[in-house]
Amino acid sequence: QLADHVRIVEVGARDGLQNEKKSISLENKLELIRRLSSTGLTHIEAGSFVPAKWVPQMASTSEILTDLIQKPPAETQPIAYNYLVPNIRGLENLVKIFQQHKHTNPPLQSDYPTPPPSPMPEEAAGQGPITSTSNPNEMSSTPSPSTTSNTTEISLFAAATESFSQRNTNCSIAESLSRSIPIIDLARRHSIRVRGYVSVALGCPYEGPDVDPHKVAELTCQLLEMGCDEVSVADTTGMGTMPRTRKLMQTLKDAGVLMEDVALHFHDTYGQALVNTVVGLEAGVRVFDSSVGGLGGCPYSKGATGNVSSEDIIHLLHSLGCETGVDLVKIAEVGEWITGVVGKANEGRAGKATLSR
Ligand code: HMG
Ligand code: MG
Repeated sequence: QLADHVRIVEVGARDGLQNEKKSISLENKLELIRRLSSTGLTHIEAGSFVPAKWVPQMASTSEILTDLIQKPPAETQPIAYNYLVPNIRGLENLVKIFQQHKHTNPPLQSDYPTPPPSPMPEEAAGQGPITSTSNPNEMSSTPSPSTTSNTTEISLFAAATESFSQRNTNCSIAESLSRSIPIIDLARRHSIRVRGYVSVALGCPYEGPDVDPHKVAELTCQLLEMGCDEVSVADTTGMGTMPRTRKLMQTLKDAGVLMEDVALHFHDTYGQALVNTVVGLEAGVRVFDSSVGGLGGCPYSKGATGNVSSEDIIHLLHSLGCETGVDLVKIAEVGEWITGVVGKANEGRAGKATLSR
């Protein structure tokens, strides 16, 4: 068995939708976040505090945060809702909403909270398929939802190549790091956890697949030293292969990066995301980003398709005996619904197969 527990960071409502040309209504975005919240997920990206002229689809993020503050989903597990901020202005806008609603985050624990117990993975449990508990008669056997202390988190981002940094954030890599300092400082003062992203870690749309793994390791170290709680190393273009992902993991370790501080974020453009996930697991990583229905793409990475689908990665992890806390049937239902709303093919193959059994 590779791992006991893996934390899934669901990015469908942010990375998944940010590139959609068709405008998705606020109502549907909120419905997506609420449905995801009831699958057992503990980490959900909910939007981006970016200028609408850069990423129009994320323009309703203030309303999303406001709604989640005013009507927090009361699931049994506490949920961290995460927002991307490209600069201090983004975090200031978030904090203004906190202040308008006299809202505060609970005080930060030094580590990420221990994950809740989860449904037994079907193969590890040696039982039949997991059945959905969406049937109201079955709900009575589950503990009644209590008010939980949901939290707000942010993500900031840097890129491993200068070309991508310029196109995505209109600044150099060095400037993106210096922009991060006041963001982390303000976040700390509001007990807001900070994730860092290192984009284009295994391939750049402008510079090709040969991104220097030492540059990725250097940036990861810098973001952690600056105070990020975790760094998500992202294969934005999906160009990562098994050998190059192995080399990257080794380079990170050689640079002294602890695997407990790393998350991996794979896009499935070349169909290598699950292979690379196994490489990450073998290296000791226990946090993976994925998007329901395989939604996604990056506005500044032409041709990049979605993230690895949550359904596929969860199915893989459960088959390996790793707990995720996520109910595969429930998230498969969300994938089927949201891809219908967006008008895209459902890329969650394990989800479709599970629902058709
Ligand atoms: P800029 O144009 O250089 O910014 O963009 P600026 O400071 O010159 O400001 C331009 C205008 O925007 C001004 O307004 C500012 O006030 C306003 P104007 O005077 O024109 O009326 N402004 C803002 N408004 C709202 N919220 C803000 C904000 N900041 C400035 N936060 C900037 C620089 C960084 C803002 C821009 O380049 C940007 O937003 N970039 C982010 C693009 C993005 O979201 N990309 C996708 C996310 S990254 C990703 O997907 C990768 C990831 O998934 C991992 C992976 O797979 O790699 C994370
Ligand atoms: Mg991404």
